Order: sequence, then C-alpha cells, then structure tokens
Amino acid sequence: MAKKRILSGMRPTGPLHLGNLHGALANWKSMQDDYECFFFIADWHALTTDYDATMPIQGYILDVFLDWLSVGLSPDKCTLFIQSHIKEHAELFLLLSMITPLPWLERNPTYKEQIAQLKNRDLSNFGFLGYPVLQAADIIMYKANGVPVGIDQAPHVELTREIARRFNHFYGDIFPVPETILTETSKILGLDRRKMSKSYNNAIFLSDAADEIRRKVSEMITDPQRARRTDPGDPAVCNVFSFHQLYSNQETIHRVDRQCREAKIGCVECKQMMAENLVGVLEPIRERRSYYEAHPDTVRAIIEDGDQKAQAVARKTMEEVRAAVRI
Ligand code: TRP
Ligand code: SF4
Repeated sequence: MAKKRILSGMRPTGPLHLGNLHGALANWKSMQDDYECFFFIADWHALTTDYDATMPIQGYILDVFLDWLSVGLSPDKCTLFIQSHIKEHAELFLLLSMITPLPWLERNPTYKEQIAQLKNRDLSNFGFLGYPVLQAADIIMYKANGVPVGIDQAPHVELTREIARRFNHFYGDIFPVPETILTETSKILGLDRRKMSKSYNNAIFLSDAADEIRRKVSEMITDPQRARRTDPGDPAVCNVFSFHQLYSNQETIHRVDRQCREAKIGCVECKQMMAENLVGVLEPIRERRSYYEAHPDTVRAIIEDGDQKAQAVARKTMEEVRAAVRI
C-alpha cells in the first residue's frame, strides 16, 4: 500500500532549541519511515510579521535547515525544501484568496491572539490576515493527507480543510481534505522555568557548544525553596530534575531523586552531572552539524534536490488547478 503523505513547515525564526527538538522535530523524525514526508521552511510566512526586518531571514533559513539535517531528518527519506523557491505556492495562494470568505480569517483565533500579543508590531496588513490562506496553499499543493502540528496551529489546518472543501465544491474534486495530526507539545521548560523560547532568552540551542551548554545549565533555576545546600530539595518541582529525566540514565535519576530529598547532593554538582549527560546526548547532533557546516556544497545540493522534488509535485498540481478553474 502506498504511504500516506504528510507535510509540515516551520517559519525561519532562528536556530532551533531543545523545546523544538522534543516537540516538532522528534515527531517529524519518527514519521519519516512510515510516511511520505514533505517538510519546508516557510520563509514567506516569516514576512507576514517581519516585513520590516528581513535582514536575518536568509541566515535563519540556513540555521533551521542545518538543525534539521543535524537531528537526522534524512533527505533520502523526506523532501526538504524552501517555500519561496516554489513560486507555485504564490499562485495557489492567489487563487485560494478568491474563494476564502473574509469572516473565516477575521474570526481565526490565532489571528486575534497574535494581534493582541505582538503589540509592538503593526499587523494591520493584508498578508498577515491572509496567513492561513498561504498555509492552506502550502498544504493542499502537495495533496497532503495529514499535517503534523502543535495545538497552536490546529485552527490553521481546520481552515485549510474548509478552504479545500470550498475549492472542491466550486471546481471539482481536486484536493484531499487533510487531517490534523496533533503533536504533543514539549513540556521542557527554559532556564528560567518559563516556556523555552528564543524570545525569552532562556533556551538551550541544538547548535550551542558544549561549554555554552554547561554555562547555561549552571544558571538554571532549581527548586526555589531550596536556599541552602543543607536544605532538602524537591525534585518534583525542579527543572534540572526534569532534564535529568530526559538525559540521564535510570540509575542517576533514582540516585539524584533520593539524594536531593535527603540534602546529600548539592545543586551545583547535580547540574554538572546533568550538563555532561545533555552534552553527551547532543554530541551526535553536534557532529552532524559540524560535518554539514564544513560541506556547504552538500547542503546546497540537498536544498536544490528537495526544491526540485517539491517543484515537480507543485507543477503538476497547478496544471490540474488551472484546468479546473479555467484560467
Ligand atoms: N504556520 C506554521 C508555524 O508558524 C508554519 C507553516 C507554514 C506550516 N505553512 C505550513 C505548518 C503548512 C504546517 C503546514 O509554525
Ligand atoms: Fe534540583 Fe538537583 Fe538541586 Fe535537587 S539537587 S533541587 S534536583 S538541582
């Protein structure tokens, strides 16, 4: 039986961190054997909010692409490409914009939320309102059966389903209606115990050097109630312990759990142990990264190859679409 096709994307907002690794990336990686995968960098989407500061985007695209290859997304198994290289997305976006009722966009919860959150940005532009229409074009272009996304993106996939149905209703059955495949969001917290995020300055990046990781771990907030080395701690409320649970072996986890409660281990030592384990777990990622950094031609060829594969599918879809719309 043919594999089902999935597609997902990321905006190029900078290097990826542990939160991204345990959220989207791990999930994508786990799907690459069982599905026909299309993963792309949504650089046009980055413009919807950062249209006045486009300078860093090219660098961010490369950061994200290197991170993808470093964690082991395989170009032999997935089609990895860059949205703006496939101009067909823009054409399909335009056609979909004709059939998308404005109220669908205006009542989109993500739209309202972002406008409220990004108060320092003027988001009263057409492109930002149309964000989900471009996303719908990204998805249905490849006739994806499923879209693995976090809960924050679920309303966009819902809108995509509605737009796909509406297109089919007007012009005939061209597009499958894609399913949302909900990714469990990573519960990993940042150094300051808030959600790990580049903009909070509390992230450990996949591309951080070993010493950078050690330094960041040494700054992590532990059990806030444990003021002195002689106070017993509570691993259950300590973020460092959550990291141990991800990166240390069972023996260490149990020992830290016990010794922390009995005040037999200090936080400095506890963090050092965890940092070494984390550095070890990230070692293969770092190794792959330095390989690709030393071989920019290989990376360029991988991008070109992914673009070409995506382009072939997009071209075919657009031929069908133009015929259906009679334009
Ligand atoms: N909006 C997504 C995000 O911010 C990125 C994205 C663009 C996307 N197009 C997509 C995700 C298509 C899934 C499918 O993360
Ligand atoms: Fe957290 Fe470890 Fe300190 Fe306990 S000893 S509070 S688990 S850092």
